[in-house]
Amino acid sequence: MRTEICERLGIEFPIFAFTHCRDVVVAVSKAGGYGVLGAVGFSVEDLETEMDWIDEHIGDAPYGVDIVLPNKYEGAGEMDPAKLKTTLEEMIPDEHRRFVDQVLEEHGVPELPADEDPGSGLMGWTAATAVPQVEAILRHPKVTMVANALGTPPPDLIEQIQSSGRLVGALCGTPAQAARHATAGLDFVIAQGYEGGGHTGDIGSMVLWPQVIDEVSPLPVLAAGGIGNGRQMAAALAMGAQGVWTGSLWLTVEEAASNPAQLESYFTATSKDTVRSRSYTGKPCRMLRNDWTEAWERDDTPDTLGMPLQMMAVRQAMVRSGRYPDKAQAVAFNPVGQVVGTMNKVRRSADVVRELVEECIDSLDRMNALFSVD
Ligand SMILES: Cc1cc2nc3c(=O)[nH]c(=O)nc-3n(C[C@H](O)[C@H](O)[C@H](O)COP(=O)(O)O)c2cc1C
Repeated sequence: MRTEICERLGIEFPIFAFTHCRDVVVAVSKAGGYGVLGAVGFSVEDLETEMDWIDEHIGDAPYGVDIVLPNKYEGAGEMDPAKLKTTLEEMIPDEHRRFVDQVLEEHGVPELPADEDPGSGLMGWTAATAVPQVEAILRHPKVTMVANALGTPPPDLIEQIQSSGRLVGALCGTPAQAARHATAGLDFVIAQGYEGGGHTGDIGSMVLWPQVIDEVSPLPVLAAGGIGNGRQMAAALAMGAQGVWTGSLWLTVEEAASNPAQLESYFTATSKDTVRSRSYTGKPCRMLRNDWTEAWERDDTPDTLGMPLQMMAVRQAMVRSGRYPDKAQAVAFNPVGQVVGTMNKVRRSADVVRELVEECIDSLDRMNALFSVD
């Protein structure tokens, strides 16, 4: 199963696994797929630590890193992270902070210990924080690809990544965004449909993938959004995708760092239980629907802020629900796609890769048999 992008990256299967867990990156790449570490939640120092660990454990296999440099965000242009943080913090209305406290209190989510600093919530999604991440990434030779979410990376970053011999790509949710990526000279595009987990647009995968493929051909397109089994993978390849880019699937694997309360939420959810909500990040992001997402939908509650202000405004919710998961599932941030309805047990990452491949081959065989003459 070798598509052009497999050849270029030297991998066996065109299965890309987006994850925030280094153990999953290693397990997927070692199983013949391609692990991609999500960098947005890490400081530059922590990202270096994660990549050093992966380098040590991944053997000769390659892996990728995903950054989040949005085309539009509050405070764009300020490249000093400390100044940006101060400016943005001053922009957060008290009303929002009060509302967050109120929702957490109503749900009995404990406060953090007095000596624990929750951090600002600025995270990696600004140029001020993402550009230094790229400099760190380029110090790690086993990283052979960088992907960007929420926009086309700036020309100097594209040049810097490509001239280091790595591929650079970006996610898109419309053919027009894909065309902008192609014009900017990216090496590949990831077409993410509505049903996918995390930030997602409003066109379903079945409609989006072929449109993006036609728009940017012959540029390789990876299909994302709603892939949970090998039949869906076969469909994506049949439409002309060069591989599949998956995210939700890896939240419930043995190597993932999801806590037991989160796992339970994923296992009990059906495909109807997700919603696209701006309540955590400020941009439409698919996650499990719960009291938190519902609270932000009410007419009498504050409007969500832009990125990254909303994430900074709700920092207490993020940190406290991570620290006290058993008490906070009703308000926790559980980004996941509609495939959550089929994620019902813990599996090893290598088994997920193998089952995707086997079921994909079975599906393609079944299709071929439709055309046999005997
Ligand atoms: C928990 C979670 C976090 C995500 N965070 C990011 C991110 O930081 N950057 C990014 O490019 N995509 C992110 N995504 C989207 C994935 O890269 C991928 O496109 C998406 O999960 C594919 O759809 P699927 O969930 O149906 O597999 C995230 C997805 C999930 C489930």
